[in-house]
Amino acid sequence: MLSSTSLRKSLTERRLFRCSTNESLVILDKILKGGFSIHEKPSDCDPDLIIMNTDLLVERPSMNSATNMHNVFLAELFDWDNRESKMVGRVNRILRRCHVRLQIRRAMNFYTQMTTVEQRINMYHLLSQVLCFGVNGEVVELGCFEGKTAVLFQKVIQGYAPERTLHVYDSFRMKAHVKGSVKEKLLGNFQTAATRPPIIHEGRFQDTVPSQLPDQICFAHIDCGQGGDVARHKQLVLFCLEHVYTRMTPSAVCLLMDYCDRSLVGAWDCNPGVKLACDEFFKEKSESISVLYGGEYCHGYFRKNAT
Ligand SMILES: C[S@@+](CC[C@H](N)C(=O)[O-])C[C@H]1O[C@@H](n2cnc3c(N)ncnc32)[C@H](O)[C@@H]1O
Repeated sequence: MLSSTSLRKSLTERRLFRCSTNESLVILDKILKGGFSIHEKPSDCDPDLIIMNTDLLVERPSMNSATNMHNVFLAELFDWDNRESKMVGRVNRILRRCHVRLQIRRAMNFYTQMTTVEQRINMYHLLSQVLCFGVNGEVVELGCFEGKTAVLFQKVIQGYAPERTLHVYDSFRMKAHVKGSVKEKLLGNFQTAATRPPIIHEGRFQDTVPSQLPDQICFAHIDCGQGGDVARHKQLVLFCLEHVYTRMTPSAVCLLMDYCDRSLVGAWDCNPGVKLACDEFFKEKSESISVLYGGEYCHGYFRKNAT
C-alpha cells in the first residue's frame, strides 16, 4: 500500500503514475483531498495526466504561467522596507572593517507595521500552496484594517489563481495611524500595489459573519486583535473560528495572527486571547495549531482535515 507521502511524491515527480485498480480505489480518496481531479481516460492519453487504472485519470493541479512569481514585494511594498539607510550602511561598514561583530538594524515600528517580513513570507507560502494544489474555495480575511496583508493575498491570488475571490471584513473603526477613512486608505493601497480591489464587507463581524462569508473557504486569515480586554478578544476569535471552520474545505488553511505559545517562541504575546480561544476550540477537534516563526511577532495555522 502506498502512503500518502509517497503517493504525493510520485504525483509531483513523475509525469505518469501507474497502480493497480485495488490500490487506486483506496488512495483515490486521499488524492481528491489534495486537490487533484479525476477524469475518464480519453483515447489519446496526454502524458501530463496520471494513469490510475485503465478507466480513470488523475490530473495534476495546474500551475499557471506565474508559477515563478517573485516575492520581493513582501519586503518592499509600503513601509515594509527594512533596508538600512546610507548613514547606517556606512556605520555598519566601519563596524565590519573594525571586526566588531555588531550591525545596526532599523527597529520595527510597532505602531504602523502590523506584520513582520517573516510572517509575510509564511502568508505567501501558505496561500500559494493551497491555490497551487487546487484546494476549493475563496480567500477571506477577518480584520483587514488598511489592507496591507489583504494586498499581499490579492497579489498571490492574481499570480496563481486569478479566478478566486478575496473577501475582507472589518468595521473600519480602528484608526491607529491612519488619518481619514480607513476604507479609502485600503482602496488606495490596492491601487498603489496595482491589484484589483477585494470584496469589502464593512461592519462588525457579529453582523457580517457568517451571513456574508462565502460557502467554501480555501484560506482564511483571522486578525482581529487591537489590544484591550483578553477575555473579550478570546470570545471574538472563537466566534470567527467557529464560522470559518465550518466553511473550510478539506486541506484549507486558517492562519491565526498573534497565536503565541510561549513554550515554543520568544516573541511578544500581544494578544493572548488568540491562544486561549484556540486551546478551547481545538480541544474536541482532530486538527491542532502549528506555530510559525514570525520574528518579533508570532502566529500559527491549522489545516482542515477531511471529515
Ligand atoms: C490588527 S488589525 C488588522 C491588520 C491587517 N490584517 C494588516 O495586517 O494589515 C485588526 C482589525 O480588526 C478589526 N476588528 C476588530 N474587532 C472587530 C469586530 N468585532 N468587527 C469588525 N472588525 C473588527 C479592527 O477594526 C482592525 O482593523
